[in-house]
Amino acid sequence: MNGNGHIPVLLEEVLDYLDIEREGIYVDCTIGLGGHAYEIVKRNPKAFLIGFDIDEKSLLRAKEKLQPFADRVELYHSDFRYLPDIKIDFSKIRGILLDLGMSSFQLDSPERGFSFSKEGPLDMRMDLRNKITAHKIINKYSEHKLAQIFHEYGELRQAKRLAREIVSRRKIQKFDTTTQFCRIVEEICRWRPQKGKIHPAAKVFQALRIEVNQELMNLSGFLERIAHMIPKKTHIIAISFHSLEDRIIKHTFVGLAAPGDSPPFLKILTKKPVIPTEEEISSNFRARSAKLRAAEKI
Ligand SMILES: C[S@@+](CC[C@H](N)C(=O)[O-])C[C@H]1O[C@@H](n2cnc3c(N)ncnc32)[C@H](O)[C@@H]1O
Repeated sequence: MNGNGHIPVLLEEVLDYLDIEREGIYVDCTIGLGGHAYEIVKRNPKAFLIGFDIDEKSLLRAKEKLQPFADRVELYHSDFRYLPDIKIDFSKIRGILLDLGMSSFQLDSPERGFSFSKEGPLDMRMDLRNKITAHKIINKYSEHKLAQIFHEYGELRQAKRLAREIVSRRKIQKFDTTTQFCRIVEEICRWRPQKGKIHPAAKVFQALRIEVNQELMNLSGFLERIAHMIPKKTHIIAISFHSLEDRIIKHTFVGLAAPGDSPPFLKILTKKPVIPTEEEISSNFRARSAKLRAAEKI
């Protein structure tokens, strides 16, 4: 655990697969609270770290944490998809890390609206400059669009029924808070707590979060573009927390490792995704659904 109560997921595995011993630039695309980044610059005095985060509050925390290494760190309050546009020497990049999704800091801040069990506004924006909130989606999107989001991004069985009820009930009263909305989800999905069953609000909140933050947008395109720009032997590590994201990463890596009509760009380093041990999960519950995939530019 580090100073701010945040535990970086699959830490040793990330550092191993990134191969952090080398001199050069390491890019943390999702720096969060700086958990992984801190270990990279601490363990390798020849590493220069470039970090991205769309959440300004997280970025400020990361900046504080990385203060002892400030001369070897450059941070951007930006979507990592803009990495190809920044003015750096791409030939010096040695490793790229994406630890996708949200941090415990975001989940544990009720005012951000990410948690269905904590009273808060229906916000869910990682980047507060974003105009779309969960409130807008729930209170304004069409029934068809809502059903599509719940189905595609939440894999919710009752997607259509929930969308229909939301649209009918919001004519009488708008949905304003996380817990108020969670109660409707529980009612429509006839939720009865059962061991091993995922709470339907977890699926619905995941779906809304993906839509608010456009989390899947161009992830594959980003990986492909960056794989073309980085030098040989650079490692790309991606950790995902849900199957939709993992599928995109897997297929993109496979596509670049075996493109068919041209020579391969990547060698896949993880035949199967690396997952946390029982021990890690028991000390960090957020790690339970993490899947790490790694590849090397060839
Ligand atoms: C799981 S946390 C990263 C935790 C980090 N590895 C650590 O050890 O502290 C994911 C972070 O990625 C950020 N994020 C999500 N999508 C992003 C994007 N497209 N561009 C930049 N940052 C993003 C979130 O705001 C969040 O802070």
